[in-house]
Amino acid sequence: MQLIDELTDEYVPSRIPSTHPLHEPQLLTAARREQFRQMAKASRLAKQAAERGEAAASIHPIYTPRLDPNELMPLVEPRGLTSLSLFSGGGGLDLGFERAGFTHLASYEWMDDAGKTLELNRPNWEVHRGEAGDVQAVDWRRFKGQVDVLHGGPPCQPFSMAGKQRGALDPRDMWPEFVRAVKTIKPRTFVGENVAALSTARFAEYVEQIILSPLSAEYHIQRVTLHAHEFGVPQLRKRIFFVGFRRKADARNWTRPAATHYRPGTKPVEGLAPTMGIRQALGLPDVGIDDLSPTIRSGLSGPRHTTSIVNSVAAAKRFRALQIWG
Ligand SMILES: C[S@@+](CC[C@H](N)C(=O)[O-])C[C@H]1O[C@@H](n2cnc3c(N)ncnc32)[C@H](O)[C@@H]1O
Repeated sequence: MQLIDELTDEYVPSRIPSTHPLHEPQLLTAARREQFRQMAKASRLAKQAAERGEAAASIHPIYTPRLDPNELMPLVEPRGLTSLSLFSGGGGLDLGFERAGFTHLASYEWMDDAGKTLELNRPNWEVHRGEAGDVQAVDWRRFKGQVDVLHGGPPCQPFSMAGKQRGALDPRDMWPEFVRAVKTIKPRTFVGENVAALSTARFAEYVEQIILSPLSAEYHIQRVTLHAHEFGVPQLRKRIFFVGFRRKADARNWTRPAATHYRPGTKPVEGLAPTMGIRQALGLPDVGIDDLSPTIRSGLSGPRHTTSIVNSVAAAKRFRALQIWG
Protein backbone atom coordinates (compact mmCIF):
# COMPACT_ATOMS: atom_id res chain seq x y z
CA MET A 1 0.00 0.00 0.00
CA GLN A 2 2.74 2.35 0.99
CA LEU A 3 4.71 1.56 -2.16
CA ILE A 4 1.69 2.40 -4.33
CA ASP A 5 1.38 5.67 -2.40
CA GLU A 6 4.98 6.47 -3.16
CA LEU A 7 4.42 5.83 -6.86
CA THR A 8 1.14 7.61 -7.32
CA ASP A 9 1.28 10.46 -4.82
CA GLU A 10 2.97 13.74 -5.57
CA TYR A 11 5.99 14.69 -3.56
CA VAL A 12 5.27 17.57 -1.19
CA PRO A 13 7.86 20.00 0.15
CA SER A 14 8.83 20.15 3.82
CA ARG A 15 7.17 22.85 5.92
CA ILE A 16 10.62 23.85 7.11
CA PRO A 17 12.10 26.17 4.49
CA SER A 18 15.70 25.59 3.44
CA THR A 19 18.13 28.45 3.45
CA HIS A 20 21.20 26.66 2.14
CA PRO A 21 22.07 27.07 -1.56
CA LEU A 22 23.27 23.47 -1.80
CA HIS A 23 20.23 21.98 -0.12
CA GLU A 24 18.72 18.98 -1.93
CA PRO A 25 15.44 18.31 -0.13
CA GLN A 26 14.22 14.79 0.59
CA LEU A 27 11.48 13.72 -1.80
CA LEU A 28 8.58 12.55 0.36
CA THR A 29 4.92 12.05 -0.34
CA ALA A 30 2.27 13.64 1.87
CA ALA A 31 1.46 10.18 3.30
CA ARG A 32 5.08 9.49 4.17
CA ARG A 33 5.53 12.93 5.74
CA GLU A 34 2.41 12.36 7.81
CA GLN A 35 3.71 8.94 8.91
CA PHE A 36 6.99 10.53 10.10
CA ARG A 37 5.04 13.31 11.83
CA GLN A 38 2.92 10.77 13.73
CA MET A 39 5.99 8.75 14.75
CA ALA A 40 7.68 11.88 16.07
CA LYS A 41 4.53 12.87 17.95
CA ALA A 42 4.10 9.41 19.54
CA SER A 43 7.75 9.43 20.58
CA ARG A 44 7.42 12.94 22.08
CA LEU A 45 4.30 12.00 24.03
CA ALA A 46 5.92 8.80 25.32
CA LYS A 47 8.94 10.76 26.47
CA GLN A 48 6.78 13.36 28.23
CA ALA A 49 4.80 10.58 29.94
CA ALA A 50 8.05 8.95 31.09
CA GLU A 51 9.26 12.28 32.46
CA ARG A 52 6.03 12.61 34.46
CA GLY A 53 6.73 9.14 35.86
CA GLU A 54 3.75 7.63 34.04
CA ALA A 55 5.64 5.17 31.84
CA ALA A 56 5.44 1.44 32.48
CA ALA A 57 8.36 0.08 34.49
CA SER A 58 11.25 -0.94 32.28
CA ILE A 59 11.73 -4.67 31.82
CA HIS A 60 15.45 -4.13 31.23
CA PRO A 61 18.05 -2.33 33.34
CA ILE A 62 18.62 1.18 32.01
CA TYR A 63 22.12 2.50 31.38
CA THR A 64 23.22 5.87 32.68
CA PRO A 65 24.19 8.03 29.67
CA ARG A 66 27.95 8.38 29.23
CA LEU A 67 28.56 11.40 27.05
CA ASP A 68 30.59 13.78 29.22
CA PRO A 69 34.05 14.54 27.76
CA ASN A 70 35.27 15.41 31.27
CA GLU A 71 34.64 11.83 32.26
CA LEU A 72 35.65 10.16 29.00
CA MET A 73 38.65 12.03 27.61
CA PRO A 74 42.13 12.22 29.06
CA LEU A 75 43.27 15.64 30.29
CA VAL A 76 46.86 16.80 29.94
CA GLU A 77 48.41 19.71 31.85
CA PRO A 78 49.11 22.84 29.74
CA ARG A 79 52.33 22.26 27.81
CA GLY A 80 53.12 25.76 26.57
CA LEU A 81 52.16 25.04 22.96
CA THR A 82 49.57 26.93 20.91
CA SER A 83 46.84 25.72 18.54
CA LEU A 84 44.80 27.47 15.85
CA SER A 85 41.55 26.00 14.57
CA LEU A 86 40.10 26.30 11.06
CA PHE A 87 36.67 24.86 10.12
CA SER A 88 35.95 24.55 13.83
CA GLY A 89 32.37 23.25 13.57
CA GLY A 90 31.11 22.24 17.01
CA GLY A 91 34.68 22.23 18.29
CA GLY A 92 35.59 18.54 18.30
CA LEU A 93 39.21 19.09 17.31
CA ASP A 94 39.39 22.28 19.41
CA LEU A 95 38.26 20.40 22.48
CA GLY A 96 40.70 17.57 21.78
CA PHE A 97 43.65 19.93 21.50
CA GLU A 98 42.53 21.85 24.58
CA ARG A 99 42.40 18.64 26.61
CA ALA A 100 45.78 17.66 25.18
CA GLY A 101 47.24 20.76 26.89
CA PHE A 102 47.41 23.23 23.98
CA THR A 103 46.66 26.93 24.42
CA HIS A 104 43.82 27.88 22.06
CA LEU A 105 44.59 30.92 19.89
CA ALA A 106 41.43 31.25 17.75
CA SER A 107 38.67 29.38 15.93
CA TYR A 108 37.31 30.12 12.45
CA GLU A 109 33.88 28.79 11.47
CA TRP A 110 31.45 30.30 8.98
CA MET A 111 28.31 28.68 10.39
CA ASP A 112 27.09 31.26 12.86
CA ASP A 113 25.31 28.89 15.25
CA ALA A 114 28.34 26.61 15.46
CA GLY A 115 30.50 29.64 16.31
CA LYS A 116 27.99 30.76 18.97
CA THR A 117 28.14 27.29 20.51
CA LEU A 118 31.89 27.67 20.89
CA GLU A 119 31.52 31.18 22.38
CA LEU A 120 28.91 30.02 24.88
CA ASN A 121 31.02 27.13 26.06
CA ARG A 122 34.37 28.90 25.97
CA PRO A 123 33.76 32.62 26.70
CA ASN A 124 37.53 33.18 26.86
CA TRP A 125 38.21 31.90 23.35
CA GLU A 126 38.67 34.11 20.33
CA VAL A 127 35.96 32.85 17.95
CA HIS A 128 35.45 34.20 14.42
CA ARG A 129 32.06 33.15 13.11
CA GLY A 130 29.68 33.84 10.26
CA GLU A 131 31.20 36.11 7.61
CA ALA A 132 34.14 36.89 9.90
CA GLY A 133 34.77 33.16 10.24
CA ASP A 134 34.93 32.48 6.50
CA VAL A 135 38.51 31.29 6.01
CA GLN A 136 38.45 32.42 2.38
CA ALA A 137 38.61 36.07 3.42
CA VAL A 138 41.14 35.86 6.26
CA ASP A 139 44.56 37.47 6.11
CA TRP A 140 46.58 34.94 8.11
CA ARG A 141 49.73 37.04 8.49
CA ARG A 142 48.94 38.06 12.08
CA PHE A 143 49.47 34.44 13.18
CA LYS A 144 52.75 34.00 11.36
CA GLY A 145 55.31 32.26 13.55
CA GLN A 146 52.96 32.02 16.55
CA VAL A 147 51.30 28.67 15.98
CA ASP A 148 52.57 25.30 17.11
CA VAL A 149 49.67 23.31 15.64
CA LEU A 150 47.29 24.51 12.96
CA HIS A 151 44.43 22.05 12.75
CA GLY A 152 41.25 21.66 10.76
CA GLY A 153 38.88 19.29 9.05
CA PRO A 154 37.87 21.00 5.80
CA PRO A 155 34.35 20.07 4.64
CA CYS A 156 34.36 16.43 3.61
CA GLN A 157 31.33 16.40 1.31
CA PRO A 158 33.43 16.92 -1.85
CA PHE A 159 35.05 13.54 -1.13
CA SER A 160 32.60 11.53 0.94
CA MET A 161 30.49 8.68 -0.38
CA ALA A 162 27.44 10.66 0.77
CA GLY A 163 28.39 13.60 -1.44
CA LYS A 164 28.87 13.34 -5.17
CA GLN A 165 32.67 12.99 -4.94
CA ARG A 166 33.28 15.97 -7.18
CA GLY A 167 36.51 16.84 -5.34
CA ALA A 168 38.06 20.07 -6.61
CA LEU A 169 34.96 20.80 -8.72
CA ASP A 170 32.82 21.01 -5.61
CA PRO A 171 32.39 24.63 -4.44
CA ARG A 172 32.70 23.38 -0.84
CA ASP A 173 36.26 22.18 -1.36
CA MET A 174 38.32 24.17 1.14
CA TRP A 175 41.59 22.21 1.12
CA PRO A 176 43.25 24.97 -0.95
CA GLU A 177 42.32 27.39 1.86
CA PHE A 178 43.83 25.08 4.49
CA VAL A 179 47.02 24.95 2.41
CA ARG A 180 47.02 28.76 2.01
CA ALA A 181 46.76 29.19 5.80
CA VAL A 182 49.64 26.76 6.41
CA LYS A 183 51.82 28.46 3.82
CA THR A 184 51.24 31.92 5.31
CA ILE A 185 51.33 31.06 9.02
CA LYS A 186 54.10 28.46 8.78
CA PRO A 187 53.01 26.60 11.94
CA ARG A 188 55.46 24.19 13.48
CA THR A 189 52.94 21.39 12.78
CA PHE A 190 49.65 20.98 10.98
CA VAL A 191 46.91 18.38 11.32
CA GLY A 192 44.35 18.15 8.51
CA GLU A 193 41.55 15.66 8.94
CA ASN A 194 39.06 14.25 6.44
CA VAL A 195 36.97 11.28 5.34
CA ALA A 196 38.86 8.11 4.50
CA ALA A 197 37.65 8.33 0.89
CA LEU A 198 40.30 10.99 0.39
CA SER A 199 42.93 8.26 0.59
CA THR A 200 41.40 6.19 -2.22
CA ALA A 201 42.82 5.97 -5.75
CA ARG A 202 40.07 8.25 -7.02
CA PHE A 203 41.54 11.23 -5.15
CA ALA A 204 45.24 10.28 -5.32
CA GLU A 205 45.98 12.93 -7.92
CA TYR A 206 43.93 15.52 -6.02
CA VAL A 207 45.83 14.83 -2.79
CA GLU A 208 49.16 15.02 -4.59
CA GLN A 209 48.39 18.27 -6.42
CA ILE A 210 46.36 20.20 -3.87
CA ILE A 211 47.78 19.07 -0.50
CA LEU A 212 51.13 17.31 -0.73
CA SER A 213 52.90 19.05 -3.55
CA PRO A 214 52.38 22.65 -2.32
CA LEU A 215 53.44 21.74 1.24
CA SER A 216 56.07 19.04 0.97
CA ALA A 217 58.95 21.42 0.29
CA GLU A 218 58.48 22.91 3.78
CA TYR A 219 56.88 20.01 5.68
CA HIS A 220 57.56 16.36 6.41
CA ILE A 221 54.07 14.96 5.91
CA GLN A 222 52.74 11.69 7.26
CA ARG A 223 49.34 10.21 6.57
CA VAL A 224 47.44 8.00 9.02
CA THR A 225 44.00 6.47 9.00
CA LEU A 226 42.34 6.12 12.39
CA HIS A 227 39.09 4.57 13.58
CA ALA A 228 37.21 6.55 16.23
CA HIS A 229 36.33 3.35 18.10
CA GLU A 230 40.04 2.63 18.64
CA PHE A 231 39.89 5.61 21.01
CA GLY A 232 36.65 4.82 22.80
CA VAL A 233 34.11 6.57 20.55
CA PRO A 234 31.02 4.36 20.03
CA GLN A 235 30.74 5.12 16.34
CA LEU A 236 31.95 3.70 13.01
CA ARG A 237 34.10 6.62 11.99
CA LYS A 238 37.18 6.15 9.86
CA ARG A 239 39.18 9.26 9.15
CA ILE A 240 42.41 10.18 7.39
CA PHE A 241 44.84 12.62 9.01
CA PHE A 242 47.63 14.49 7.25
CA VAL A 243 50.20 15.45 9.86
CA GLY A 244 52.96 17.79 8.73
CA PHE A 245 56.10 18.85 10.61
CA ARG A 246 58.40 21.73 9.67
CA ARG A 247 61.24 20.20 11.67
CA LYS A 248 62.68 16.85 10.75
CA ALA A 249 63.28 16.03 14.42
CA ASP A 250 59.59 16.56 15.25
CA ALA A 251 58.62 14.25 12.38
CA ARG A 252 61.05 11.61 13.64
CA ASN A 253 59.70 11.85 17.20
CA TRP A 254 56.08 11.45 16.17
CA THR A 255 54.33 8.12 16.03
CA ARG A 256 50.84 7.12 15.02
CA PRO A 257 48.57 7.30 18.11
CA ALA A 258 48.23 3.83 19.60
CA ALA A 259 44.70 2.46 20.11
CA THR A 260 43.38 2.73 23.65
CA HIS A 261 40.22 0.67 23.08
CA TYR A 262 39.01 -2.41 21.22
CA ARG A 263 35.71 -2.78 19.41
CA PRO A 264 32.80 -4.03 21.54
CA GLY A 265 31.82 -7.63 20.84
CA THR A 266 35.27 -8.56 19.48
CA LYS A 267 38.08 -10.50 21.17
CA PRO A 268 39.45 -8.47 24.10
CA VAL A 269 42.92 -7.02 23.57
CA GLU A 270 45.20 -7.03 26.58
CA GLY A 271 45.82 -3.60 28.00
CA LEU A 272 42.95 -2.01 26.05
CA ALA A 273 39.48 -1.14 27.31
CA PRO A 274 36.35 -2.10 25.37
CA THR A 275 34.65 0.77 23.55
CA MET A 276 31.13 1.11 24.91
CA GLY A 277 28.22 0.52 22.55
CA ILE A 278 25.93 3.29 21.39
CA ARG A 279 23.00 2.09 23.53
CA GLN A 280 25.19 2.29 26.59
CA ALA A 281 26.51 5.75 25.61
CA LEU A 282 22.97 7.09 25.11
CA GLY A 283 21.68 5.58 28.34
CA LEU A 284 19.14 3.24 26.71
CA PRO A 285 17.95 0.00 28.31
CA ASP A 286 20.38 -2.93 28.24
CA VAL A 287 18.55 -5.35 25.91
CA GLY A 288 21.54 -7.62 25.43
CA ILE A 289 22.67 -6.17 22.11
CA ASP A 290 24.92 -3.20 21.58
CA ASP A 291 27.50 -2.06 19.08
CA LEU A 292 28.99 1.00 17.41
CA SER A 293 26.59 3.49 15.88
CA PRO A 294 26.74 4.05 12.12
CA THR A 295 28.76 7.06 11.01
CA ILE A 296 27.00 10.25 12.09
CA ARG A 297 27.37 12.77 9.29
CA SER A 298 27.65 16.52 9.72
CA GLY A 299 24.15 16.73 8.30
CA LEU A 300 23.54 20.44 8.73
CA SER A 301 26.23 21.42 6.28
CA GLY A 302 25.53 18.55 3.88
CA PRO A 303 23.56 18.86 0.67
CA ARG A 304 20.59 17.10 2.24
CA HIS A 305 20.53 19.75 4.95
CA THR A 306 18.91 17.30 7.30
CA THR A 307 19.10 16.84 11.02
CA SER A 308 18.29 13.15 10.67
CA ILE A 309 21.01 10.71 11.58
CA VAL A 310 19.40 8.03 9.40
CA ASN A 311 21.03 9.24 6.23
CA SER A 312 21.64 6.00 4.36
CA VAL A 313 20.06 2.58 3.94
CA ALA A 314 23.02 1.05 5.77
CA ALA A 315 22.56 3.45 8.71
CA ALA A 316 18.83 2.70 8.89
CA LYS A 317 19.57 -1.06 8.95
CA ARG A 318 22.17 -0.69 11.65
CA PHE A 319 19.92 1.38 13.89
CA ARG A 320 17.12 -1.15 13.39
CA ALA A 321 19.45 -4.00 14.39
CA LEU A 322 20.41 -2.02 17.50
CA GLN A 323 16.72 -1.40 18.23
CA ILE A 324 17.24 2.35 18.10
CA TRP A 325 14.82 4.61 16.27
CA GLY A 326 17.23 6.97 14.57
C1 LIG B 1 33.83 18.59 8.82
S1 LIG B 1 33.31 20.02 9.67
C2 LIG B 1 34.57 20.20 10.88
C3 LIG B 1 34.18 19.66 12.21
C4 LIG B 1 35.16 20.00 13.31
N1 LIG B 1 36.51 19.55 13.00
C5 LIG B 1 34.73 19.41 14.64
O1 LIG B 1 35.53 18.68 15.22
O2 LIG B 1 33.61 19.66 15.09
C6 LIG B 1 33.69 21.31 8.53
C7 LIG B 1 33.27 22.68 9.00
O3 LIG B 1 33.77 23.66 8.10
C8 LIG B 1 32.85 24.73 8.06
N2 LIG B 1 33.17 25.52 6.86
C9 LIG B 1 32.91 25.22 5.58
N3 LIG B 1 33.37 26.17 4.76
C10 LIG B 1 33.95 27.11 5.56
C11 LIG B 1 34.61 28.35 5.30
N4 LIG B 1 34.75 28.82 4.06
N5 LIG B 1 35.10 29.04 6.35
C12 LIG B 1 34.95 28.59 7.61
N6 LIG B 1 34.33 27.42 7.92
C13 LIG B 1 33.84 26.70 6.90
C14 LIG B 1 31.51 24.04 8.05
O4 LIG B 1 30.48 24.92 8.44
C15 LIG B 1 31.75 22.88 9.03
O5 LIG B 1 31.38 23.25 10.33
